[in-house]
Amino acid sequence: MTGQTQRRRAPGEVPRAADPTAPPPFLDLDDLERRARAVLDPAVVDYYAGGAGTETSLAEAPVAWRTWRLRPRVLRGVTATTATTLLGSAVATPVGVAPWAYQAMAHPGGELATARGAAAAGALMCVSTSANHSVEEVAAATGGAPAWFQLYAQHSPAHTDDLARRAGDAGYRALVLTVDLPVLGRRHRDLRNDFALPAGLRMANHPAPDDRPPPAADDDPGWVLADVGRFAELSGLPVVVKGVLRGDDAVACVQAGASAVWVSAHGGRQVDLVVPSAHALPEVVDAVRGETGPDGGDVEVYADGGVRTGSDALVALALGARAVFLGRPTVWGLTCGGADGVTAVLAGLTGELAHTMTLCGVATPAGATPDLVTRYGWTTR
Ligand SMILES: Cc1cc2nc3c(=O)[nH]c(=O)nc-3n(C[C@H](O)[C@H](O)[C@H](O)COP(=O)(O)O)c2cc1C
Repeated sequence: MTGQTQRRRAPGEVPRAADPTAPPPFLDLDDLERRARAVLDPAVVDYYAGGAGTETSLAEAPVAWRTWRLRPRVLRGVTATTATTLLGSAVATPVGVAPWAYQAMAHPGGELATARGAAAAGALMCVSTSANHSVEEVAAATGGAPAWFQLYAQHSPAHTDDLARRAGDAGYRALVLTVDLPVLGRRHRDLRNDFALPAGLRMANHPAPDDRPPPAADDDPGWVLADVGRFAELSGLPVVVKGVLRGDDAVACVQAGASAVWVSAHGGRQVDLVVPSAHALPEVVDAVRGETGPDGGDVEVYADGGVRTGSDALVALALGARAVFLGRPTVWGLTCGGADGVTAVLAGLTGELAHTMTLCGVATPAGATPDLVTRYGWTTR
């Protein structure tokens, strides 16, 4: 006995480790974000955390998942497993890393650290075009774990085509076309900060300024549906179209050659007052049911935007998502702990998902069917 009196725990309080800097014994994303904000430059925090316009869509994304309620199944004798496949690649979890730009601002290891962290969690990483390491460098860091490459239209179509070919050659398993950025959203925080990539960091997939071909004309209409099949052919990879929020668009993308559709509002960074993924997802899933991908298989649907808990993820799976992807939680994980921080976020959320699945009598991700959820609150559906 030391004679010290122990502080009485508040009802419901989870015991914390003695070291105040140690992470809590559960996935506390608010705590992680607080710690990340404390070490990053304020303009970088604004870039990572911010959204377009009034940031209404940014704020609504997580809330929208919580307008659904789970309907647990009992007496099913279930211990859940989270393993699944994404376009045929085996993964340990349906929770992946969404593509996000400029990861070396968060941690010197940048995308290489994220790739290692995701591989350690058995999770799929989608690598952004706007990476600080090249398409080939990040592929090498995955150590053979499945990864996808996200493509943006570059200032010259020839360079965009070249990147698509390089993604195929580098061993990525799919090409993700982000189609919700014909132009950049108006992000007031970045405009106010005059945000720019800090000196010393490179846009590794952009040609050096001296090598730049002339920019596309101002009246360039950007990508159209025919580009979906064209990029599949160029890269030799299945194409995922990211940034779809409507059933009719989803069907059009599939008929144009997409293997999968990714429901996303770009983390609230593009269109403000946009329908949240949690509400667009059922419409998209309904619309592509019965459609087949280019290889004759079912069309996979993914979702992102404000997924923060195991319950959010299970709602998404029940609404028909085959996987969910995390943006900002992995930003804060990478900032605080490099590859290990990314692993902690992915493994933490996967653990929460497995726990919630077991509590709800759901053995596998495929067992999360629409009967598992019901609408609560908002009545737009
Ligand atoms: C800092 C940041 C940078 C992003 N950069 C890209 C990008 O380069 N390409 C892309 O397709 N999406 C990008 N996104 C969108 C994410 O892929 C994803 O759709 C979104 O972050 C998911 O929402 P969440 O952050 O609430 O999890 C970015 C998001 C953030 C937060």
